[in-house]
This record gives sequence, C-alpha cells and structure tokens, in this order.
Amino acid sequence: MRTSWWQGAVIYENHLPSLRDGSGDGIGDLEGLTQSLGYLSATLGIDAVWVGPFFKSPLLDQGFDVADYTQVDPVFGSIESFDHLIAVAHKRGLKIIVDYIPNHTSDQHPWFVESRSSRTNPKRDWYVWRDPKPGGGVPNNWTSEAGGSVWEWDEQTGQYYLHSHLKQQPDLNWRTVDVRAAMLDVLRFWLDRGADGVRIDVAHMLMKDPQFRDNPVAPKGNQNPFDLQHPDFGTQLHVFDRRHPDTQAVLAEIRAVVDHYPGAVTIAEIEAMSWQDWAVYYGAGLDGMHLPFPFRLLETPWRADLLRAELDGLYASLPTGAWPIVALGNHDRERLAKRLGPEQARVAAVLLLTLAATPCLLYGDELGLIDQPVPLDRQRDYFARASGGVSRDSTRIPMPWDDGPNFGFSSAPEGQLWLPVARNGADVNVEAQLRDPESFLNLYRRLLRTRADSTALRYGSIDFISSPSAKEVLAYARRTADDHKVVALNLSDRPATVDVGVAGTVLVCTTAPAVGSAGLVLELEPHQAVVIDVRGRRP
Ligand code: GLC
Repeated sequence: MRTSWWQGAVIYENHLPSLRDGSGDGIGDLEGLTQSLGYLSATLGIDAVWVGPFFKSPLLDQGFDVADYTQVDPVFGSIESFDHLIAVAHKRGLKIIVDYIPNHTSDQHPWFVESRSSRTNPKRDWYVWRDPKPGGGVPNNWTSEAGGSVWEWDEQTGQYYLHSHLKQQPDLNWRTVDVRAAMLDVLRFWLDRGADGVRIDVAHMLMKDPQFRDNPVAPKGNQNPFDLQHPDFGTQLHVFDRRHPDTQAVLAEIRAVVDHYPGAVTIAEIEAMSWQDWAVYYGAGLDGMHLPFPFRLLETPWRADLLRAELDGLYASLPTGAWPIVALGNHDRERLAKRLGPEQARVAAVLLLTLAATPCLLYGDELGLIDQPVPLDRQRDYFARASGGVSRDSTRIPMPWDDGPNFGFSSAPEGQLWLPVARNGADVNVEAQLRDPESFLNLYRRLLRTRADSTALRYGSIDFISSPSAKEVLAYARRTADDHKVVALNLSDRPATVDVGVAGTVLVCTTAPAVGSAGLVLELEPHQAVVIDVRGRRP
C-alpha cells in the first residue's frame, strides 16, 4: 500500500497565542511552540502541528487579518524563530503546517492601503469594489460572518468594498490575475522555508458570484446552533457569496504550486454543506485539495444514529483514491468537553482517533479543557464587537501546563496574558494529568499509541456494525490483511449491548483501566467506549 505521511498522521491544531509563551510578554509564540515539541511528539504522540497564523497583523481576528504575509509578527517571534521551529520539529520527525489565508487581508495590508487610495490605483481591482445600488445603498444583501452587511462604504473614493468577515478584513479579488500571482508567491515563500503543508483558511470562499446577486432569504430556524457566527449570518442562504464553482480552478492552481514540494499537504477549510458538495473540493481527478476539512461531524447532535448517518454520508461521497480528515473540535466552536460533558468527551476521543481518516485534535482537548467566559475587558476577538456578535475567546484560553504561575503558560503577570487562564487549571493541566493514569491526557496517549501501533486503525477499511441500540451505540471494525480492531462506543448514560461477533483483548477503555478480554457480545457501561484487538470470531 502506497501512502502519504498525512494519511497515517494525527494533526494537532495548535493555537499559537494560546499554547505557550516563550518570550514572557503574555502571548503564546513560535518559541513557546518550539519548547512544546517534546511534549507533542514524545509525551502525547502526534505527528504534525497546524500552527495557526503568526504573520504581521493587528490581531483583530487572532491573526487571520494579515498585514504582511511574509513577515512574522514580533509578538510571535521572527523569521529566525520560524526557521528554528522547522529545524527542531523536523529533527523530531514532526511536520509543520502553516496557515494560508488567501480570502482576505487586514485593512492595514499595503495592498489594501494602495487599493483604497484612489479609483485609478493599479491595485484597485486587487479587492472587490462596487458602486452603490441604483438609488443608493449597499450593492447587495450579503451578510458577514461577523454581523451586518459585507459592504463597507469608503468615503474618499465613493465606493463600497467587500469584507466577508470584519470590516477590517477586506476580501481579495481572486479574479484579478496579479492577485493570484502574488498569493501563489506567498505559498512558495513558506514552502521554500520548509513548511510541510498549508491549512487554507475559508478555501470555499475565494470566488464569488460575478454578478453579485442577492442571497435568498433563509427559512426560519436556519441558524446553525453549533456555529459561533453572528446571528445575522444565518438569515440568508449563502449561495452567491461562497462556494462558487470557479473556486475549483483556483484551488487547482494552489495545488499545482504545492505539488512542486514533494509530500506537502493542502488542508482546506470547507464550511458546512452536504457531503456531496464537500467532496467536490478534492477536485476533478483529485487535482484539488488533499484534505478538505469538513464541519458536519462537529455540528451533528451527539447521538449514535445521527453520527452514523453522517459517517455513511462521508464515506459514500469520498471519491475513489481520496482520503478524509476529521475533527471534533476547532478554534471557532465550543469545546468538546463543554458540548458533551467530560464522560462523553472521552468517548469522543475514541471516535476521533479510530475513524478511517486523519484525525485533527484541538490543543487542550487532550486535557478535557472546557471553555470559560472571558470578561469583556479581556476579550480579543473582534467578532464579538458587533452587537450580537459572539466571542470565540472562551474556546481559546491558554493551555495549562503545570500548577505553577499561570499554569506554566507564561511568566508575565496574569493581567497581561493573551486571555485569562483556565479556572480549573490546578486539576486540568499536563503535569497533573500525567500523574493520574485514568486522566484525559493518559486516555489520549493510550489512544495515540494504539493508533500508531495498528495498521488497521491508521489505514484499514471501516465497516459499521449494527446494534439494536442504534441511538446509543456506534460500533465498527477496522481491518487490514493482518490487523483487525473493533471499536464500540456507548454515547448514552445507560448500559447498552452490541453483538460484535468477534472476541479479543481490550486495548483502550474510557471508564476503567483497559484490561482483560472482550466477548462476542459487548455489555457496555454508561459512557463506555472500547477498542478491541480481535483474536477470534464466532465459531
Ligand atoms: C476561518 C477561521 C476563523 C476566522 C475566519 C476569517 O473561518 O477559522 O477563525 O475568523 O476564517 O479569517
């Protein structure tokens, strides 16, 4: 079997300002990440880190508002700290995936400063400028993810510019050839410096309807309850402002550049839609994204039959030869342990690390970290500044490392920290959890080791096993020619039974030390999930 490294890998979504502060200014940085690589590779056992943005930025959207794509923002370090990160990571066999943010820049980016300076500036069409609608007002009804219209009036030049997110994040115009050329150079810059791939921010948004038609009004109840977007956003069906078919050609251009770097991977953020629509992003003949990053599993209510239906949809839509990535947590959503509670967050860990897909794990989820409200005066996320806007800061609190000051995140005074530390950091921290054999962290470590040791879990087929308790129990077999595992998850707080038809040894269990053998019929305790190494089948 010929595989790429990222098929067998587990990816860790680091959130750079929140992981570890190496400089002492209160904000996580590249040096702090480099210092954490021993934990990530040797203690935890992941294979690749998705770093999070570290480019020059006013940091109104956590660095997704880029003012210079090829400069490291001083709060995150320098280009030397990036080179050092790559060197240390590669020495440890870890891959480094950098963010590529092609849809928009900061309004501080020199390209935008030029573009807005006059209607005749050569960079005017690097962004999306439109006249008011005949009779006045915004050019169309599109709503922004941060709330309100996507159109911002520019007094000086008498036109509106488009911003799909904050008004300080103008959208680049990918229909302009020079924009494409400049942005492909950005890609080359980081790949030349040793990045092992890119995570492409809102990849489904690069092309918009060239006629800028109004989006249709959404039926009532359209708001996605799992999404932290502004409620304005859900008032319409976003058919003309994103997922335009022309996006595929642009993504194929990006992929063609990346293909010059052997082994480099493209992970593309593709927001909620049907599995068929998601699968389009692999490209015709798989010339698109290696790993379109889906959100449906994060957005499915935690019930076995509903998750099963989503997974059936995922695998049925997967083009031949394509490989999926899955995540159950993300920096834009509520954390797993908050959404599901601690017992089921452990069940979720088993699901994430045993599916036939590359798992992507959000920093801190391996500790069962829980979101916590951030007081207004400490909030960083400008998405919360629009009235009714939702702050994503509560998900992004600092990683607790030990029970020292600021739980080991930073040596700066607490008031200077990027965000307040976890209130329960005394119990929920790496050192404390390493001492407790049944902690979240040790469960994740066992799962990661079990996955690393098993060709079936990394590369094998997946076959779902039916259970009379279909709402409570999700079970499946993972198989290669010489390795066979069965996974059974009880998503409820009641005992449940599943006939798996094979017997074996329990390798991992969420509710007890994993010991002993498992019979043909599993009697699962409440909140119990198990991984079984199959040794025999029903005679
Ligand atoms: C993506 C990022 C999100 C950011 C947005 C705009 O969805 O995940 O955090 O706010 O893009 O860049």
